[in-house]
Amino acid sequence: MKRILVTGAAGQIGTELVLRLREELGAEAVLATDLRFPGEDHPVFAGGPFRTLDCTRGEELGLAVTAHRPDTVFHLAALLSAVGERDPLAAYRVNLGGLMEVLEVARAGKLAVFTPSSIAAFGPDTPRDPTPQDTIQRPTSMYGVTKVAGELLCDYYHHRFGVDTRGLRFPGLISHSAPPGGGTTDWAVEIFHAAVAEGRYTCFLGADTQLDMMYMDDAVRAAMELMEADGSALRHRNAYNITAFQLTPGGLAGILREHIPDFSIDYDVDPVRQAIADSWPRRIDDSAAREAWGWSPRFTARSMTETMLHALRPPVNHGP
Ligand code: NAD
Ligand code: SER
Repeated sequence: MKRILVTGAAGQIGTELVLRLREELGAEAVLATDLRFPGEDHPVFAGGPFRTLDCTRGEELGLAVTAHRPDTVFHLAALLSAVGERDPLAAYRVNLGGLMEVLEVARAGKLAVFTPSSIAAFGPDTPRDPTPQDTIQRPTSMYGVTKVAGELLCDYYHHRFGVDTRGLRFPGLISHSAPPGGGTTDWAVEIFHAAVAEGRYTCFLGADTQLDMMYMDDAVRAAMELMEADGSALRHRNAYNITAFQLTPGGLAGILREHIPDFSIDYDVDPVRQAIADSWPRRIDDSAAREAWGWSPRFTARSMTETMLHALRPPVNHGP
């Protein structure tokens, strides 16, 4: 992994992954691309090469690959679960149409491809606690449908054409550098901003809704480690379950009160996102990833909370 092209680079994951890759490989080695121009001050634009690129347009992708000559694509462009339920056709076109274009470019150019899957690749018939590595996958959201189909498409391109495809089923990701893109787990980021700004938060999921979560540093490290792992050891190469901890809104509110004693939470449940969350795992089993390349998260719910609050709270002014 020496020269990289990242799609969807201005999003929640891309904003941090691009910076880490540039630290590791040098700024010029990492071409960040996104459908939208993120602004001149945005770190993925300001810190190295950037190009606007619609991943559903194969010709644009081909031109970017010819210009940059990457050996690896981190394909992050997608529409997330709540956005996908508002416009299922658009989610289908971007998530599967875009992936197909990326895989075709990778086949032609012999590029490795990282594609995130998600806990959304499971559905209401899946065992929820724990959710095994190999199990029933009948998701009921369009986002989930595109994630399962994406896993299978990546498997197909590996077996049929020898493309070095790899992927992880990410849980909900928590970070402070960029806002989340419109998913069912966004509450776990919004709650920190609201706690710091107002001391209170109205959550769109119910108090006891438990989902897998992870701090972004661990997610970025997992993606980079997977792309450096010995390919022959990757039996589930496009769909490793990974997790760090499980959160409910009520439980995270309790952890926040250890730092902000007056913090309060109430609930205004959004039936669409609640139904999606109720169809997802409560706890996934990531032992296959631990065995395959030694995956292990570093952040717990408490150390993630301390890190988020440290980043978001205004610095204390001790005067002159
Ligand atoms: P995000 O919504 O924050 O970012 C996605 C980016 O893709 C956006 O900047 C958007 O402008 C861009 N994009 C949309 N359509 C595009 C197109 N046609 N061409 C090029 N770019 C386009 O999403 P994210 O959270 O960074 O997620 C990245 C990937 O990780 C997605 O595949 C997502 O499903 C997956 N994932 C994310 C999470 C999470 O909690 N953030 C969890 C599991 C999986
Ligand atoms: N965080 C993502 C979402 O909620 C999960 O893939 O859509």
